[in-house]
Amino acid sequence: MGAVMKSFQADVVKEFNMLLDYTRDIDRMISDDELYWLYSLSRHTFKELNVVELGTYTGVSAIFIAAGLKEAYKMTTVDICKYSKSNDTIEIIQKANADLGLKIEFIKSNDLAFVDSLPDYCIDRIFIDSDHNYEHINQIFEHVMRKMSAGGLMMFHDYTPAEAGEVRAITEFVEVYGDLFNGFGLNDTIWWGIIKGV
Ligand SMILES: C[S@@+](CC[C@H](N)C(=O)[O-])C[C@H]1O[C@@H](n2cnc3c(N)ncnc32)[C@H](O)[C@@H]1O
Repeated sequence: MGAVMKSFQADVVKEFNMLLDYTRDIDRMISDDELYWLYSLSRHTFKELNVVELGTYTGVSAIFIAAGLKEAYKMTTVDICKYSKSNDTIEIIQKANADLGLKIEFIKSNDLAFVDSLPDYCIDRIFIDSDHNYEHINQIFEHVMRKMSAGGLMMFHDYTPAEAGEVRAITEFVEVYGDLFNGFGLNDTIWWGIIKGV
């Protein structure tokens, strides 16, 4: 690896550890390894993106995704606040925006209603971590696919036997509509697919 790349990677690891430290006392539903993957993916992105997260909880995954995006971006995260108090989430996100220079927008909403409110083809990257049941994941595909930009990246958290409905819904979708993707894969429990576009 060249010296420039080595020093870049060292910066990524250093900044990631700083973020882990910053968020240490905030409850989350995602592993450090997955946060590293999301952060590193953002850090290796060098173009403007419109990023959406469905399922904010306390905001930890949103912070790691947004913090890695050094270039211009728009990041919106959405939650109905089933297990968390929306005021707590708002407070955490406002503080992270101020402390870390982020611009995460939190919207308290049903995920599908939020997605429906967006123009077609506008999402460049989406992290889906809301309701993991079979019917809901099917609805997510139905509502989200038309909103994805060509080359957009779709990610589902918790692709694991513990979320059998999600695994089944994704597997069935790919069996029928796999041609809509340029490629897909799995990183830890994050399933990802790159949209070909229409
Ligand atoms: C697994 S947690 C998200 C964890 C978060 N991404 C993290 O990494 O810390 C799932 C969240 O999705 C929210 N949720 C569940 N169903 C939803 C829906 N239909 N629309 C919006 N949010 C939903 C819940 O309120 C919960 O906060």
